[in-house]
Amino acid sequence: MSTPLPPEERTRWFTEARFGLFIHWGLYANGARHEWLMNHEEIPIEEYERKYFKHFNPDLYNPEAWAQAAAEAGMRYFVITTKHHEGFCLWDTQQTDYKAPNTEAGRDLLRPMVEAFRARGLHVGFYYSVIDWHHPQNFIDNRVGPYRNLSAEEIAEKNKGRDQKIYAKYIRDQVTELLTGYGPIDILWFDYSYPPEDPADFSKGKGRLAWESEKLVETVRSLAPDILLNDRIDLPGSGDIVTPEQYTPAKGMEVDGKPVVWEACQTFSGSWGYHRDEMRWRSSAEIIHTLIDCVSKNGNLLLNVGPNGRGEMDARALKSLKEIGAWMRVNSDSIYGCGAAPEGFEPPSGCAYTYNKAKNRLYLHILSWPHRTVYAKNIADKIEYAQFLHDHSEITFGLEGWQKAEAVKNMATFIIPWEKPAGIEVPVIEIFLK
Ligand code: GLC
Repeated sequence: MSTPLPPEERTRWFTEARFGLFIHWGLYANGARHEWLMNHEEIPIEEYERKYFKHFNPDLYNPEAWAQAAAEAGMRYFVITTKHHEGFCLWDTQQTDYKAPNTEAGRDLLRPMVEAFRARGLHVGFYYSVIDWHHPQNFIDNRVGPYRNLSAEEIAEKNKGRDQKIYAKYIRDQVTELLTGYGPIDILWFDYSYPPEDPADFSKGKGRLAWESEKLVETVRSLAPDILLNDRIDLPGSGDIVTPEQYTPAKGMEVDGKPVVWEACQTFSGSWGYHRDEMRWRSSAEIIHTLIDCVSKNGNLLLNVGPNGRGEMDARALKSLKEIGAWMRVNSDSIYGCGAAPEGFEPPSGCAYTYNKAKNRLYLHILSWPHRTVYAKNIADKIEYAQFLHDHSEITFGLEGWQKAEAVKNMATFIIPWEKPAGIEVPVIEIFLK
């Protein structure tokens, strides 16, 4: 087993990429009301198979279109749910018949997707759910899944004869298939653990003992030493990426007081899987603000799309990706390869800084458009030149006479147009530092 590169080298492509696409796609797309519908509605396995396995027919599936939409949105990597909690597998696994080739799809759906995204230069990430509500050896518990509300006796009865070690081996065997059958994989995104008080009582929750997480990490590292692992198999210290979910941290994330590589995973709506009737849908402006916010705190944004049962991203998702892409097309220099501004660079009110250390370039994002001036403290003596990033038009600045007073020493006053530049959701001033 070759030794993995040091973490800062292994994660460099990731922290430079900053923006990725999460894709949640499985049988739940046909239920079209959240990927947890099997849990929420306590749908027994037989019924779930009869409805959704039997009728899964993604006849319009075209991963080239997905990859094109992601690339044009400015995304630099993607993470696909190879298997979600329902247990259904998108690839032609030899470990179970509960897989895409055995549906109307009639083929491995993962391979063409990986090829399409890789062909556009995106890094490849596999989400794999250790939770599995279908596998006959995985213990049923009273926390999650369609049988969670059964009585303790009924759960015990259903767990009779189950051997959790067989399921833990199943996880390793499937992960081995994924890491050896689809070319170099850049991220392995496990989900998720909920250890019980008694770690060995798998009928009340599952963590490292249930998944045999140590053996699982050994398997992963032996097959893909430099792959990036996330933090959800209940094995502190084994992951490379901390994964705050459905929120943006207040500041750069730390573990034990030390900064860590982190990635916020978020949805457009509340659901990860396709949800036809959901009325919530975040605006592209707010998503762009969120992306800037994450990068300004040394983090990534993994933004989710849930394709529908025919294999298409729906109109809402495509429209949003297009709008985000329009901003990224002319402003991505303030995102790729950027992170938090150096100590002491306090952004003006209504603005956010990102900073490209390699270029020594500061990016001032004007989130809320003020009248005529943006006052940037403590940097006037550090600026060599400034321009709008989107059109490279010069932005003048200077120390106003009255700024000589102590209170505003070294403040730069950027003079900006009366109106926000048309079509630019968040105008960015690119500041060339001395
Ligand atoms: C939560 C949800 C799961 C989703 C994941 C994405 O774990 O249970 O459905 O895939 O978040 O981070």
